Amino acid sequence: MKFDTPATANPTDRMKVLGQPIDRVDGKLKTTGTAHYAYERSDVAPDAAYGYILGSAIAKGRIESIDDADAKAAPGVLAIVTYKNAGTVAKAKAHTARMLAGPDVQHYDQAVAVVVAETFEQARAAAKLLRVTYARTAGSFDLEAVKASATKPKDGTPDTAVGNFAGAFAKAAVKVDERYTTPDQSHQMMEPHSTTAAWKGDKLTLWTSNQMINWAVRDMSETLGVAKENIHIMSPYVGGGFGSKLWIRSDAVMAALGSRAIGGRPVKLALARPQVMNNTTHRPATIQRLRIGAQKDGKITAIAHESWSGDLPGGGPETAPNATRLLYAGANRMTATRLAVLDLPEGNAMRAPGEAVGLLALEAAMDELAEKLKMDPVQLRIINDTQVDPEKPSRQFSQRDLVGCLKTGAERFGWNKRNPVPGQIRDGRWLVGMGMASAFRDNVTMKSGARVGIDKKGVVTVATDMTDIGTGSYTIIAQTAAELMGVPVDKVIVLLGDSSFPASSGSGGQWGGNSSTAGVYAACMALRDSVARKLGFNSTDVVFEDGKVKSGNRSVSLSEAAGDAGLSAEDSIEFGDLTKTYAQATFGAHFVEVGVDSATGEIRVRRMSGAFAAGRILNPKSARSQVIGAMTMGVGAALMEDAVVDKRFGYFVNHDLAEYHVPAHADIPMQDVFFMDELDEKSSPMKAKGIGELGLCGVGAAIANAVYNACGVRIREYPLTLDKVIGKMA
Ligand code: MOS
Repeated sequence: MKFDTPATANPTDRMKVLGQPIDRVDGKLKTTGTAHYAYERSDVAPDAAYGYILGSAIAKGRIESIDDADAKAAPGVLAIVTYKNAGTVAKAKAHTARMLAGPDVQHYDQAVAVVVAETFEQARAAAKLLRVTYARTAGSFDLEAVKASATKPKDGTPDTAVGNFAGAFAKAAVKVDERYTTPDQSHQMMEPHSTTAAWKGDKLTLWTSNQMINWAVRDMSETLGVAKENIHIMSPYVGGGFGSKLWIRSDAVMAALGSRAIGGRPVKLALARPQVMNNTTHRPATIQRLRIGAQKDGKITAIAHESWSGDLPGGGPETAPNATRLLYAGANRMTATRLAVLDLPEGNAMRAPGEAVGLLALEAAMDELAEKLKMDPVQLRIINDTQVDPEKPSRQFSQRDLVGCLKTGAERFGWNKRNPVPGQIRDGRWLVGMGMASAFRDNVTMKSGARVGIDKKGVVTVATDMTDIGTGSYTIIAQTAAELMGVPVDKVIVLLGDSSFPASSGSGGQWGGNSSTAGVYAACMALRDSVARKLGFNSTDVVFEDGKVKSGNRSVSLSEAAGDAGLSAEDSIEFGDLTKTYAQATFGAHFVEVGVDSATGEIRVRRMSGAFAAGRILNPKSARSQVIGAMTMGVGAALMEDAVVDKRFGYFVNHDLAEYHVPAHADIPMQDVFFMDELDEKSSPMKAKGIGELGLCGVGAAIANAVYNACGVRIREYPLTLDKVIGKMA
């Protein structure tokens, strides 16, 4: 099904099942420990051996020698694979660094060897007996130091310029020109990267933890030189990804190599928590400069956003200026993205890449502008709203209700009680402040396919290689099929995460919810047609409800229509030009109250509230969970998360969850989430948009703005740890 004209009335509008806050259909499996994760496949691989990866002890240079004599002789060891005996291990096009080092080393903790043994403990112990010598060469590890050498990225990230920014900024009555920095961050999802791999002849099976099954097949094929049709990947349950599992990592490659080395017997391999930090990917640190010029009435006349980040040679930039291109009006504007070479582990996508860190700067700068204008920050954003792409005014937004979010959010939060003068409100030892920020995230759509069948019992089965990374895909796909086929949710079986199923959008960039359900919609529409045809019904007036197919005064049960053989249909949704002819994005407004300890500078978030506009909300319960999770991640970005670089040796020092801090329950207060009642007909037949990343975008800036309002200290270097606050408090 091609989606290239806006959706009109369709069966999703019934909202009998869609739009309802139903419980996760996979909830019981998850909470009873009966969902099989990649490392727990004793059901299919009871005889698995264990793999343990030894990572490089240097960031850049060469392996000079590997002495594996002691490791080989260690108890239980079955095989040791290094670049010397691995066979072909190429760099997939999607990867920046190879998954196996040797002889050259591209980053710290890059895999140097996998030890396969009968038990995990034996594999780990033997790995410690490997003696590897290196010739270290100097590397670049400090973004600030290499900033001046940064160049325009070759990946197509454009510089943008409209009007005359420099002239308009020079003449602006009120100006902000500030620099903000954001640190390297690590995904640190609950489930580390893990894989169980097995070979039968030249056929490879991987049970792994991955967001994008068809990319995973492609990248495994490129890496090992194995034909795609000989690779079967399954990833039915994923314990979080946040972008770190968009591409296969060393666990998958090294488990496959390890299994091949022992004749195809399954090998299971999980990265240890510290390896997640240095062996895989991270969100790159940024340096950003924001300049905004406005008239005295608050209208923006000039806005510029420049960003610098680094990556390994051949890598890509953090596209921090994304949101600034579309969020506010202003006739004179420019953005620039610059990329420097750093020899740290590969930088890559982490939840809302671009916007998440871009808004930490933009929305803090807007707060500084509001203060200079003596204008309410909500009002400043309202008067600079735009209904067209400010870089290309002939292009409208498909749907944009930022103003609705700002007004509704302010009302629900009680923004009118805020004292605009910093440092005025006390609660015992706590200085209390309120801050806000806009939320913005692109709405991306991706081709997505599915197969849907009905059996003689009237049970509907959906199969697609879509993944559920904790987001609720199983549930919204079940709701979509139930709505379209007119059956209750418990009559739908959803099968996900298997490369033998039709290729889907996968989970990434908050495109999965809308795109994958639209693919299921396409397959259901095809199935409805074939049911109608089989019954001789007129497909224009046919209705699917209560487990029946009805047309005029005829009614046949679905099970009867399916017959003994059952019926099935496969289709995909393909998105046309609507994402180009219209700017498509999701919007919101965050409001936060914080307390700053007047004695210690400790910051506690006291209240969070947000209003969001993201098209139809397919399931308000799972969507709310996505948003509160993202808001929680935003608290981490604002106050805690900081992958500290050892600038001498080039690695992230705080490589475990004791030292890389993320919010825990006690850090998170009551979170209020409100969804605007909205449909976006230009986004998909589901009239929905992405929601998984939006909640992260802007919330950290709202916290920083609240800290300023509480105690009068502006911190422009995230995260806002107490050491940065305490010295500056009056
Ligand atoms: Mo997201 S960073 O595309 O998983």
